Amino acid sequence: MQTRIFRNKKLIDRDKEINFFLDWFNQLPELILWVYGPKSSGKTTLIEYVVEKELFEDFENLKPKKGYWVRYVNLRGKLITSYDSFLESFIKPKKEKEEKKTKSLSAKVSVSILQIEAKLLKEVKTREKDLFDVIISEIENIEAEHKILIIDEIQTLEDIYINGDRELLKEFLNFCVSLTKETHLSHVVILSSNTVFIDRIYNDAKLKKTSKFFKVDHLDKSIVVEWLSSEGYTEEEINLIYDYLGGCIPDIQRMMMLKDKYKSIKEYLEHRAFLAYSQIVMFYHQGKFPKEEIEIFENICKEILNNGSFVLSKDRDSKYLEVISKWAEKEILFFDPLTLEVKGNSRIYEKGMEKLEL
Ligand SMILES: Nc1ncnc2c1ncn2[C@@H]1O[C@H](COP(=O)(O)OP(=O)(O)OP(=O)(O)O)[C@@H](O)[C@H]1O
Ligand SMILES: [Mg+2]
Repeated sequence: MQTRIFRNKKLIDRDKEINFFLDWFNQLPELILWVYGPKSSGKTTLIEYVVEKELFEDFENLKPKKGYWVRYVNLRGKLITSYDSFLESFIKPKKEKEEKKTKSLSAKVSVSILQIEAKLLKEVKTREKDLFDVIISEIENIEAEHKILIIDEIQTLEDIYINGDRELLKEFLNFCVSLTKETHLSHVVILSSNTVFIDRIYNDAKLKKTSKFFKVDHLDKSIVVEWLSSEGYTEEEINLIYDYLGGCIPDIQRMMMLKDKYKSIKEYLEHRAFLAYSQIVMFYHQGKFPKEEIEIFENICKEILNNGSFVLSKDRDSKYLEVISKWAEKEILFFDPLTLEVKGNSRIYEKGMEKLEL
């Protein structure tokens, strides 16, 4: 395990994943790369590290590695409610040369916008030109051997329409297929922790054929052992921590920060497990789940506790899938659409499930 420094903090491991991305970007763009995984597994942190430290020579001064052109857009918090707000948030008109120096944007903002000629942007806004056709010809004209477009929180684009009838997400995905499989112009990486959404994509025959799915999971036990040993934890403590928190990085970081407020690590971990349990029970009441759905949820929990995971049957029992979707949206269950396996979104929820005494 290599520990890197990123934004003045330790970046734990991710050697395997970082190498995967670097290899991927060295190949000809053929497929859209979908990055998925449990909530808070570290997808955004990982991709931001790769962009800022591996694809840029000097990120603050916007100097990419030689031969690279990179755009990274995180749609979280962008308040995209319409096609126009989508346009506003990531397309900007190219500045005329004279006013070039007026206002310099931060590196983070600059890397997240595409610039097109003001005249073309106007035509896009009045719907005379198709946005994605315009972007494709812009990208075509960029001189770089490796072009990379990364979009985080793609599900934000669901339910948005262009001209009232064309679905923005559909058009956007067609554009991604065109950039990769059809023209090999640019890599496209799409991130989402919404696996109900990923499931829909995975089961769309056309997108499945044109996509590669890559999971960013919580850390493996061997990495947690290495990490916590280097922080001075004993073998016994590490086993206890792993039993409660698994490889969930932010849960382990929080434990490190707060454990001293408790009599022992065990007391802290039990407190977290109780909170996870309370959250589940609260959803029973808030969610107004019919009795049948609670029974299904508890069957799933039992299976997870006994066998480590629940596997959805191949015929994708629709009632089970519906219940799994609801609990995945609440970030209590994690559903892997590729293997049909269901687990706690992080280990602490499985410790909470134990308290249901099923
Ligand atoms: N490799 C890592 N080393 C250190 N801290 C990390 C690492 N990965 C993630 N974190 C920390 O964990 C937290 C969650 O990470 P992040 O937001 O990247 O997860 P995510 O998978 O993108 O979550 P979401 O599902 O909400 O999009 C962040 O506070 C981040 O600082
Ligand atoms: Mg994220």
